[in-house]
Amino acid sequence: MLRVAVIPGDGIGIEVSREATRVLERAITVFDLDIELDQWDVGAERFLRDGITLTDAEFRTLAEDRDAILLGALGDPRVKDESYVRDILLGLRLKLDLYINYRPCVLPDPSLCPLKDVPAEGIHLDIFRENTEGIYLNLGGVFREGMADEVAIQESVNTHRGVERIVRAAFQFAADRGRPSVTLVDKANAMPIEGALWRRVFDVVAQDYPEVAQNTMYVDAMAMDLVRRPERYSVLVTSNLFGDIISDLAAELTGGLGLAPSANIHPGRHALFEPVHGSAPDIAGLGTANPIGAIRCAGLLLEYFGFEAAAVAVETTVALSIREGQTTADLGGARSTQQVGEWICDNLDATMPSTQPA
Ligand SMILES: NC(=O)c1ccc[n+]([C@@H]2O[C@H](COP(=O)([O-])OP(=O)(O)OC[C@H]3O[C@@H](n4cnc5c(N)ncnc54)[C@H](O)[C@@H]3O)[C@@H](O)[C@H]2O)c1
Repeated sequence: MLRVAVIPGDGIGIEVSREATRVLERAITVFDLDIELDQWDVGAERFLRDGITLTDAEFRTLAEDRDAILLGALGDPRVKDESYVRDILLGLRLKLDLYINYRPCVLPDPSLCPLKDVPAEGIHLDIFRENTEGIYLNLGGVFREGMADEVAIQESVNTHRGVERIVRAAFQFAADRGRPSVTLVDKANAMPIEGALWRRVFDVVAQDYPEVAQNTMYVDAMAMDLVRRPERYSVLVTSNLFGDIISDLAAELTGGLGLAPSANIHPGRHALFEPVHGSAPDIAGLGTANPIGAIRCAGLLLEYFGFEAAAVAVETTVALSIREGQTTADLGGARSTQQVGEWICDNLDATMPSTQPA
């Protein structure tokens, strides 16, 4: 039995989570999967009501009695200080040591690519972003705050262990999936201290995967090249900061934020799946949010836990919904969040014959 905690969160997180849950429940029925879901009240509403983000007891339950978390999004304009979001999101990532932030960016249909010349071979990038170190740890300090000569220092933390495990995860993924190359994205020319560690570890780990080609690329050149010729790249591995930025660029190249899923993983221990987008207060409550990023998260969850046929069915049906124009306004369609979710549910079993293993 796989136990999944669903945390809808705030804003459109609640709306898209409802559809991801709907599709996951449909997949459980259609493919007869042993998965149990339960809904968690975590987010701004509760924080405003009770002043609570996530209690220690709840965290322990999530860590010890749940195998995975399916999260919508967090963030609410009524809470000016977003420390409650950091408390929950960074708290879960760091306490569960979810060191892999995996962001697949696959173009589901050429019509969704904003490039003038869409590559004939499509776009398929698998981004491995380090998720527990780098510049996002909030280490550093401020000196003479508010004065004209204020000093602000933000430290970037890179450990041999941290770099080794994310680089190995990227190579292992490439080897397992038959992906042709892994590219290390860094800024080793301007940031040679951390750059040297990343490159040394990358070279050593690459030797264990002779069948996978290895490249390095500066992040600024990568930003250019992703727009110029994204089809040249396959698996990318990079730091927390650079991964955050290039994965948003890659998401735009493959249909936009509304379509992009992500997984935060510590293999064998825990996993948290969340769409890349935030709580989008500007469209919350309108019923127009694109639920596909969240639905694809359900697909990633199924794939990660080995429910291959169900995962393929979700991804196939999502692509079909786009081809059939069953989309929300961000993709040019006229369907509501719920209508897209229901369409994907209704069509999930129709794809079964082509996706069931022989
Ligand atoms: N992991 C998370 O929970 C997460 C991630 C990013 C931002 N946030 C939070 O979300 C809040 C809003 O942040 P933001 O506006 O910078 O980013 P956002 O991703 O919420 O929205 C950016 C833009 O994209 C649009 N958009 C996003 N998702 C969409 C979808 N599924 N369908 C259609 N349009 C969509 C929004 O309408 C908005 O115009 C903030 O409180 C921020 O802290 C949370």
